[in-house]
Amino acid sequence: MGAGIMGVAVHPGQAGSVHVTKLAQPRPGPNEALVRVRRVGVCGTDTEIINAKFGTAPAGAQELVLGHEVLGEVEAVGEGVTTLRPGDLVTATVRRPDGCPTCRAGQIDMCLWGNYTERGILGAHGYMAQSFTENVRYLVPIPVELEPVGVLVEPLSVVEKAYRQAVLIQRRLAVWTPETAVVLGAGPIGILGTLLLRQQGLQVYTLARTPAPNPAAEIVERAGAHYVSTRQISFANLRDSLPNVDLIFESTGASALAFEGMEALGINGVLMLLSITGGDAEGLVPTDAINRSLVLGNKIVAGSVNAATEDFARGVKRLGQFEHEWPGLAVSLITDRLRGFDDAHRIAEAAGRGVKTVLEFADA
Ligand code: BGC
Repeated sequence: MGAGIMGVAVHPGQAGSVHVTKLAQPRPGPNEALVRVRRVGVCGTDTEIINAKFGTAPAGAQELVLGHEVLGEVEAVGEGVTTLRPGDLVTATVRRPDGCPTCRAGQIDMCLWGNYTERGILGAHGYMAQSFTENVRYLVPIPVELEPVGVLVEPLSVVEKAYRQAVLIQRRLAVWTPETAVVLGAGPIGILGTLLLRQQGLQVYTLARTPAPNPAAEIVERAGAHYVSTRQISFANLRDSLPNVDLIFESTGASALAFEGMEALGINGVLMLLSITGGDAEGLVPTDAINRSLVLGNKIVAGSVNAATEDFARGVKRLGQFEHEWPGLAVSLITDRLRGFDDAHRIAEAAGRGVKTVLEFADA
């Protein structure tokens, strides 16, 4: 006892309560690995937790260790572990099951009862610490050449799941060869979605408020997508100039766009909603027009959250493909690097700038 490690935590429900905390030294039990953390990404969910709009501490605890986008190195393994060794690089999935039929069938990301926990978000400590332990079934190996971008696997897994869902949904059609996609939002999810769809060969129009030039626009355009500022052309006007929109990813964080997307979607199209809108915005929606266009166009609107282990594995593979196609592009999403514990108090402020903020724990 006595020995401990440092972590970055909040008091859930208390805005701006980010602090460095001391945690017990984790030790790997059977089937677990001890992972030394190298880098953790910050996302909109973390900002919401910091702003006290989301997040719960583990049962019986006062604080929640943040962080669910991790790259780390296996330091030691517990009894019975044969799939990982010290020195291996890994990331970890986020959600843990609650025993519902869907979780028991292995689809934790589709949990039915909603009593799941999520590391760094809901009822379970996250990865913003010097190290953590986890059952190896929730750890996903990262090849050493992807070390600089491995921290992006978690956000990419969210997009991989959405794309996989879209493909599954479209099995309703005898033939679906999507050509045109619209991505709403140019945050990390929107950009990763853009890269994925470009890599799949679609024409992609990525919409965001801020006019180019900016880092997001540069990445999107380097991947051959069209960056469109809604300050320069409205979504409705853009849609009128496009061929049939086969697929839309909505990732702006603004729910009104979900409804605009329903009208903009083309015949037989699928709209994947990815924004967890934390507010309580209300607005006027042209319900007849939207309903009519959904019915007459055989359109599908689907929500998608979290990701399965297979989506993480697809994400790892996809990052390799991104590197091959656009060397150095994915790493340019990381626009801010903070020093692990020293800069912890600056997380929320930094997350509002640039594309992706990461905390570096290498020397912590
Ligand atoms: C995470 C998901 C999680 C969701 C809701 C997102 O930021 O990437 O894994 O399910 O937040 O808590």
